Formats: sequence, C-alpha cells, structure tokens
Amino acid sequence: MKIVKVKSYEEMSSVVADLIIAEVNANPKTVLGLATGSTPVGVYKLIAEAYKKGEVDFSQVTTVNLDEYCGLSSDNPQSYRYYMNENLFKHINVNKANIHIPDGAASDPFAEAERYESLIESLGGIDLQLLGMGHNGHIAFIEPGGELPAKTHQARLTEQTIKANSRFFKESEEVPVSAISMGIKTIMNAGKIIFAVNGNQKCEVLKKALFGPVTTMIPASVLQMHNNAVTVTDCLN
Ligand code: GLP
Repeated sequence: MKIVKVKSYEEMSSVVADLIIAEVNANPKTVLGLATGSTPVGVYKLIAEAYKKGEVDFSQVTTVNLDEYCGLSSDNPQSYRYYMNENLFKHINVNKANIHIPDGAASDPFAEAERYESLIESLGGIDLQLLGMGHNGHIAFIEPGGELPAKTHQARLTEQTIKANSRFFKESEEVPVSAISMGIKTIMNAGKIIFAVNGNQKCEVLKKALFGPVTTMIPASVLQMHNNAVTVTDCLN
C-alpha cells in the first residue's frame, strides 16, 4: 500500500482528482469505480473544473458506483444516484448510458445485486476504484462482522453507520437500513484503488486499517493486500 500524506482536505482532494484525471487521460475508456459521502465532494468539484478547462474528457469513460441505499428511488435527493448527478455527472461529458449505480428501488434486491456483479464482470472489471471509509472502517457498505461478502450483495447497515449517515437525513429514522453494495472481491479485483480518508474522527480506525492485522472487523484493512492501492490522507501528519 502506497501512502500519500497530505495536510488538508483541499490537498487530499487535489491529489486524488489529479490521479483520476491522469488515469482517464492515459486510458480514455477507463472503467471508473466511484464513491459517495462527504469525502469525495472536493474531488468531484476539481474534476468538473478540469473538464470545463478541457483538461480531461469523459466521453468514453464508464462509471460504476460502489453502492446505493435500498428503498430510495433515483430522484430521491438522499439517493446516491442523485448525489452523483449533482456532484459530478451533470458537470462532465460522461455518456448517460455508461453510468452504472445499483438500483435501490429494485423490487428484488438479490436479483439486482447479481445483475450488478455480472455487469461489472461484463465490463472487464474496474480499472480504478475510488474509496472512502466509514467511521467503523467500512468500505462501500461492507460492514464489520464475522465475514465479508465477496460479491455485490444486499447489506444490512450497522447502527453506527445509520447514525453516522443520519447527518444527511432530516430524521435518523429516514436512513435506510439496507443497501446494495459491491463486495470485497468486487473491489479487490479493481486494477488500482485510491483510498481517500480525511478528518480526525477516522484517524484511529484508519491507522488500524493500514498498519494493524487484516481483519473482517475493519473491512478497510483488507486493502493492505491489494498490490496497486494508494491511501491519500491527512491523518498521518
Ligand atoms: C457511506 C458510503 C461509503 C463512504 C462512507 C464515508 O457509508 N457507503 O462509500 O466511504 O459513507 O462517508 P463520508 O465520506 O461522508 O464520511
């Protein structure tokens, strides 16, 4: 695991945006794995600015998002699809047909998870995956536990995640209790991984994930075993 130490959220965003832009410029047909949450907002802003300046072209890029809440339709402002449209997709020239996010409103989430996993396989896998980390060490919605699901699956969110993510909702009762999420194998099969973590609250968990034993109780610790992963963080100053 390569580690890039940065001093601020702004610097983290800039380093990560540059890595993504460089990847797309080197491989215009990149299959780009994308993440949501507050962490990548700055990254997406910088990518949109670079696109406006003509520094990067997304016309041939395919995107696959990590996860989506169950029970939220794509026009729900709390859905990850809505987030992606607002923060990135409407600002760049990615072809709508090449945007993929699990369908949180699917009547059969198990079938939807299988469809999504097959879709990623049919794309030839993910070239570059952007990841954030939850406060409990989760990546995507792969929650700590006795085992980690390998493939895209319906994930039951832990109390801690529901509480952490309730800041985006008016009432914590509104936070969905499950999601469709890529599995650990889906993510670890990505050619490259960028792991972006900022903020004091996550630093203790991050240190365990990067330097402690690999454990299902900290799903992000599995990233230690990826051979082309970079962590960009302000936690290690
Ligand atoms: C959610 C997402 C994760 C994300 C995490 C951290 O739980 N499923 O992909 O990494 O939130 O979010 P934030 O960046 O807002 O702390």
